[in-house]
Amino acid sequence: MILTPSLRKLALTTHVIFSIGWIGAVLVFLALAATGLTSQEEGLVRAVYLVMDLITWWVIVPLALGGFLTGIISSIGTRWGLFQYYWVVIKLVLTLLSTIVLMIHTQPIGQLSVAAASSAPFGATLQKTQLQMVIASGAALLVLIVLTVLSVYKPRGLTRYGQRKQRKDIETLTIRPAAH
Ligand code: HEM
Repeated sequence: MILTPSLRKLALTTHVIFSIGWIGAVLVFLALAATGLTSQEEGLVRAVYLVMDLITWWVIVPLALGGFLTGIISSIGTRWGLFQYYWVVIKLVLTLLSTIVLMIHTQPIGQLSVAAASSAPFGATLQKTQLQMVIASGAALLVLIVLTVLSVYKPRGLTRYGQRKQRKDIETLTIRPAAH
């Protein structure tokens, strides 16, 4: 089903807000994760991990799910389709993978925030998890930037399904008798 021009604009606006918002939130997360890893101030480190857990659940997860959902609507509701262009398929796969990896990381993020909230000293045992947060958010940022570049440049490549569909659409148009 193709969206009307005004609904398409609404879907695209929402999609850009969610997906580009996701990038901004991951940037903030990366800054916090780097501070948590390198700072010597225990109070600051604890605060950082408490905030990271909050922004994960209240900002990053909703933006990721919203970006994914509005991306699907913007695809099936327009001539782009979901499986006709490689750039859309790549976005679908990378966004899906990024969202799954994000959901897996909510567990170690939760671990860090529980440790930050407890009165026990912030142990060296968590250092690996702290480093993991910096690496994961840096990698997520790179993937999200690649997705944005793909979205704006929209490389032409059609999938096999896309080629078949376009051929069929042209045939339907040429076979249809002229209206009197
Ligand atoms: C984090 C992930 C994503 C980012 C950063 C992102 C970013 C963007 C941006 C900036 C645009 C506007 C481009 C323009 O109009 O010039 C756009 C459009 C679009 N996106 Fe995404 N997107 C993401 C995920 C997805 C997903 C999962 C899909 C679906 C598989 C998708 C499908 C589309 C489509 C079809 C358009 C064009 C819509 C139209 O022309 O009306 N996007 N995206």
